[in-house]
Amino acid sequence: MKTFYITTAIDYVNGSPHLGHAYEKVLTDVIARFRRMMGDRVYFLTGVDEHGQKVQQSARKRGIAPQQFCDEVSQEFRAMCAKLDISNDDFIRTTEQRHKDVVARILQQLYDQGEIYKAEYKGFYSTRQEQFLQEKDRNPDGSWPEIFGEVTEITEANYFFKLAKYQDWLIRFLKENDNFIFPRYRQKQVLEFLSEPLNDLCISRPRERLEWGIPLPFDTNYVTYVWFDALVNYYSAVEGKEGVWPADFHVIGKDILVPPHAVYWPIMLKACGLPTPKSILAHGWWSINGSKMSKSTGNFVEPIEFAERYGVDALRFFMIREMSVGQDSDFSLNQFLARYNAELANNLGNLVNRTLNMTNRFAGGVVPAGASAAEIAADANLAPERELRALWEKTRDEFITLCEGFQFHIALERAFAFVTATNRYVEQRAPWKLGKSTEAADQALLKTALATMAEALRLGASLLPAVMPTTAQKVYGVLGYTPGGSWRDQLVWGESLTGAKVAETAILFPRPQAPEAGTAKG
Ligand code: ME8
Ligand code: MG
Repeated sequence: MKTFYITTAIDYVNGSPHLGHAYEKVLTDVIARFRRMMGDRVYFLTGVDEHGQKVQQSARKRGIAPQQFCDEVSQEFRAMCAKLDISNDDFIRTTEQRHKDVVARILQQLYDQGEIYKAEYKGFYSTRQEQFLQEKDRNPDGSWPEIFGEVTEITEANYFFKLAKYQDWLIRFLKENDNFIFPRYRQKQVLEFLSEPLNDLCISRPRERLEWGIPLPFDTNYVTYVWFDALVNYYSAVEGKEGVWPADFHVIGKDILVPPHAVYWPIMLKACGLPTPKSILAHGWWSINGSKMSKSTGNFVEPIEFAERYGVDALRFFMIREMSVGQDSDFSLNQFLARYNAELANNLGNLVNRTLNMTNRFAGGVVPAGASAAEIAADANLAPERELRALWEKTRDEFITLCEGFQFHIALERAFAFVTATNRYVEQRAPWKLGKSTEAADQALLKTALATMAEALRLGASLLPAVMPTTAQKVYGVLGYTPGGSWRDQLVWGESLTGAKVAETAILFPRPQAPEAGTAKG
């Protein structure tokens, strides 16, 4: 069986991790956890991009050697993954020998094959983007777009990779694999980009201009262009691992789809004779309080600090619930708190409290046996139970389909709508009233109500482990439930909780502490 191999972009270590980095890790983690729940063997890679101009400059500013700088900052990225419960199997750094060896070998192979040549190049260069610019990159008025920063004209001899000769192949490849990129409309953008002739790719930087890179094995006066180096991480991390390559899924932001991931990367692999990845998911961008996140203006969210203050699962939930994969979203504390209170504390948290409360008050803390499935199907008085079960089956099936299509925000909406319906069911049955009655029929109905709410809570929680792994475990724990068998088997309405001893209380979503100045204000 082929392992489902999924990756994130590797983050530049020129600054600390931010919300965009956190989101991408969490989104990828949700997909990885979902695939595992569905029974796949998964290999999940993330890591950091440590070479290049930006990192060299940041290290200089701090007055320390680039390697020491990378060692420090990459630790922050690792810590963020650990804090956010990212279930990655490996964490790659491009300064590791295992990576540098593969990059050098691939370069040598392409050089020996005649895919790389040396040429004089005169042109405009953006230091910020580390790329040579073309006339078509200019603004209509002739100036350079701000994203390029300072642009200078330079002449230098460099090495070039024969990208252009693969243009027709890539166009054919994209037309034959029309699910290569998600969302689909982005694939059209790639084809549009390819409607203009491609230039060969400059893959070297002279050492006198940039030292911090992997030396070209065939000319050590040069180091490797950071993108050529970085993309190879996906392959270098798993080379030699049985049944892993090619990648099934590269998760990246929309800014690095064209050209690096959708053009350079498939062509690099094709030229090396290696299988190309199966698909790429390009997610959108977060703004904060309606504007671009920026450390200098204080419009910033520190993901680790935020998770410590409001809870890891609450942050994971918010990002996945708020953003439609592929589109942009805005992060504001107001919106976060609104969802926290309405969906987590007052909906799910409330159902947990009620279930534990009622079970302790009226059944000695042990989930009773309720009416049987046959009775529920037949008895006219048990319509609410029947409806809740029917809603469960619909919710579960839709949830899985939505997750398979990366519509996680809607999947969560459905899961929480089921929790809402369960709370409504509880109000309808009002176990607190039934518990005061001595009628045999009321006592029987009370048992059915307690069994139903506990089972519905178990099932609702069983939709959450991909997004909120700790919360799901906590709910299982307070219900005295130990999941067994496959995930799909756990999603069947049943009687596994009968006789389970529930906890006395649980606080899943404590009232958040007031924010300090400096964190995202809403
Ligand atoms: O591009 N919202 O690194 P990077 C959402 N090293 N996602 C965001 C974001 C935002 N505001 N800002 C950044 C690089 N990202 C290269 C990748 S891969 C072989 C090399 C995402 O640190 C961004 O889209 O600038 C990218 O996918 C990831 O964070 C790393 O960005
Ligand atoms: Mg970037």
